[in-house]
Amino acid sequence: MSFRDLLAADASLIQSRLDHALIGYEDQAVIHAMRYACQGGKRLRGFLVLESARMFGVPTERSLSAAAAVEALHAYSLIHDDLPAMDNDDLRRGQPTVHKKWDEATAVLAGDALQALAFELLADPVIGPAETRIALVQALAKASGAEGMVLGQALDIAAETAPPLTLQQITDLQAGKTGALIGFAAEAGAIIAGADPAPLRAYATALGLAFQIADDILDVTGDPAKTGKRLGKDAAAGKATFVSLLGLKAAQDRARNLIGQAEAALFPYHAAQNLIDAARFVIARDT
Ligand code: IPE
Ligand code: IPE
Ligand code: MG
Ligand code: MG
Ligand code: MG
Repeated sequence: MSFRDLLAADASLIQSRLDHALIGYEDQAVIHAMRYACQGGKRLRGFLVLESARMFGVPTERSLSAAAAVEALHAYSLIHDDLPAMDNDDLRRGQPTVHKKWDEATAVLAGDALQALAFELLADPVIGPAETRIALVQALAKASGAEGMVLGQALDIAAETAPPLTLQQITDLQAGKTGALIGFAAEAGAIIAGADPAPLRAYATALGLAFQIADDILDVTGDPAKTGKRLGKDAAAGKATFVSLLGLKAAQDRARNLIGQAEAALFPYHAAQNLIDAARFVIARDT
């Protein structure tokens, strides 16, 4: 199976798990908004959960709820990222953003509820022993909270109205904003398997940084028909990005270099081809 086919197959498994998790709720706008925000996307984070778990021989039935959890959390982060108080975007995954389709209150609440759903999914007994699930809950809480994604988002917003960040500052910001959740996704398989997550952590650190550099590059060079979101927003907001600091060419070189590092980190593993392919995809993507 090609990498793209595998990504699509994993995405469809994750979609089914999310659909299943959202069955039986009230017929309320907030629930419709949650389902809407869980549609589409590349599912890269969920893919990393499923593939890191498979690498350790963990069956997909056991990792699927964790893959759905990270995508639910990611969907929440996108809803809130798009709000007028943050990036004020009207298009996401080729569709109107949640606050445009409904309203801001519904968008805030749908995001809140998707965050809660993520932790509910991590408590799914099918994942394994309680200790394993507690470790996952702890890891996702750290990655998504005030030491991780929320911190990165706060620094990102603050940077819009402050003197330009240095490369070190923007690297630190990225480690929270994008890196932390990708880090959780890559380590989840090791946590479920009860294996040492250290090599996957090194892989994810390089991968997460390359991912955000690619996102910044796409904001400048991408095709909105493919990315499904408005582009050119970073420069318009006066945001310091890897592209604004390094220039396009050096940013591309750095992203390529990081993918080499990500691949090297996988050296201890024998069955890491799908994770290697994921790393290459991160900088080759146009969506
Ligand atoms: C976009 O993430 C937001 C960032 C963290 C840069 P993705 O590019 O993974 O978005 P989807 O899930 O594929 O839509
Ligand atoms: C979003 O980063 C990061 C999170 C949602 C945590 P961006 O603001 O760069 O993402 P896009 O470009 O809107 O997808
Ligand atoms: Mg943002
Ligand atoms: Mg944004
Ligand atoms: Mg961006």
